[in-house]
Amino acid sequence: MNKRLSVAIDGPAAAGKSTVAKQVAKEFSYIYIDTGAMYRALTLKAIQSGADPENEKDLMELLQEMEISLVPSGTQQLVLVNGEDVSEAIRTSAVTDHVSAVSMHGRVRAEMVKRQQEMASSGGVVMDGRDIGTHVLPHADVKVFLLASVEERAKRRHEENLSRGYESDLSLLEKDIARRDKLDSEREISPLRKAEDAVEIDTTSLSIEDVVVRIKQLMEERL
Ligand code: CDP
Ligand code: CDP
Repeated sequence: MNKRLSVAIDGPAAAGKSTVAKQVAKEFSYIYIDTGAMYRALTLKAIQSGADPENEKDLMELLQEMEISLVPSGTQQLVLVNGEDVSEAIRTSAVTDHVSAVSMHGRVRAEMVKRQQEMASSGGVVMDGRDIGTHVLPHADVKVFLLASVEERAKRRHEENLSRGYESDLSLLEKDIARRDKLDSEREISPLRKAEDAVEIDTTSLSIEDVVVRIKQLMEERL
């Protein structure tokens, strides 16, 4: 039987990580883990409970009470917190505005990394995020770092929002993405960074299929 690989996909917002990760996971019958959804779930709970995103102690108290489950559903993935479906609620702009502040705390990250490593412990996993190749799965069989220009990424999010019937402002999206890129790359603890042994793919002028094919090639080489 083929070895069940672990695949780490990192990169900035809207580089295409979750879209390609889901597709690759499906084709190999692997589990897909969206680590950004976990930070978003904690951010949602912080907003709902009035906790300050700067207060690590309050965030940790909330997180200890949260069971976060990622449940496959058709081609999508449901995000459940203590059994409640928050898949839509974690994508609102209020959550997006605060998620980088919540995810910069060391204790929050340590707890999330521990949970993510447990989820990935049996292999056969495609995990996407910001620190997967550098911290969560430093020994991943395949590490990919996806990039695309800010303009292209904002355009992709804009089109995605419109196709879902959400309001969308392209120039605001561009500013938000640039702001999050900066916060995520400059934070002290496990910043967004390409692992030394990751393969960088600039997706600016690539289709989703092109990127999936490239990652599958990298996986085949390891099998
Ligand atoms: O989907 P999008 O690219 O907008 O972001 P996401 O993957 O849902 O991640 C939301 C935020 O969570 C990021 O901007 C980071 O601040 C944080 N995050 C992180 O710090 N580490 C991860 N492994 C994943 C996400
Ligand atoms: O997970 P991440 O935030 O990196 O990005 P995503 O949510 O997977 O992708 C953002 C949007 O870009 C989705 O609507 C994808 O369909 C689209 N996309 C694209 O148009 N071309 C690519 N090569 C990759 C993604």
